[in-house]
Amino acid sequence: MKPLLIGIAGGSASGKTTIAQCLKEEFEQTRSVVIIREDDYYKDQSEKTMAERVKTNYDHPFAFDHALMIEQIDALLAGQAIEKPVYDFVQHTRSTLTEVVEPCDVVVLEGLFVLEEPELRKRLNIKVYVDTDADIRFIRRLMRDVEERGRTLQSVVNQYTETVRVMHEQFIEPSKRYADVIIPEGGSNVVAIDLLKTKISSIISPNML
Ligand code: CTP
Repeated sequence: MKPLLIGIAGGSASGKTTIAQCLKEEFEQTRSVVIIREDDYYKDQSEKTMAERVKTNYDHPFAFDHALMIEQIDALLAGQAIEKPVYDFVQHTRSTLTEVVEPCDVVVLEGLFVLEEPELRKRLNIKVYVDTDADIRFIRRLMRDVEERGRTLQSVVNQYTETVRVMHEQFIEPSKRYADVIIPEGGSNVVAIDLLKTKISSIISPNML
């Protein structure tokens, strides 16, 4: 049977990863669940210098290799294993490592453009948008990028004001209209996450997979 494909979109640092992880933990006792992060499909920039890489607009769809992502999603939906890229946020390019993902029952796709990109959207069985206020997202992003992604406070502020905020308003926020479920306040919304789990359980009853 075809795997169930769940898409989780939302702004940067809205809580997409937390919700994807909650779903994985809930269902992996009985089902094989994999999380595919759109971030891993950022284009390879190994031919560029670091100075050039820093200038990329990482919040525009052109920054991603969506063709490869769609090809690999289709392979998973066809019950095949994939060897997916792994992204290195510190080096701003694809890592030299890849990761093998085995065929599974449930695929959770999480990323900025999962609802915006029509070819991804049309494949989704459940479409989720994580709707977290911009001030909270900015604070989280600042802390995360400094602690985990090797950034300075000033670089995070510059990137946010020059590209992240503008692209969010142009591409990400409007994609909310395509969602089946909108989760306010991201990963801390226990009731909304429970409702989502109940819906998924009803779909992945033994007859459906
Ligand atoms: N990004 C970056 N530098 C790169 C590549 C990406 O700063 N070399 C940033 C982009 O600006 C984009 C963000 O990474 O806004 C995408 O990741 P984000 O959605 O913030 O992280 P997730 O963990 O996928 O989501 P969440 O925080 O909602 O769990």
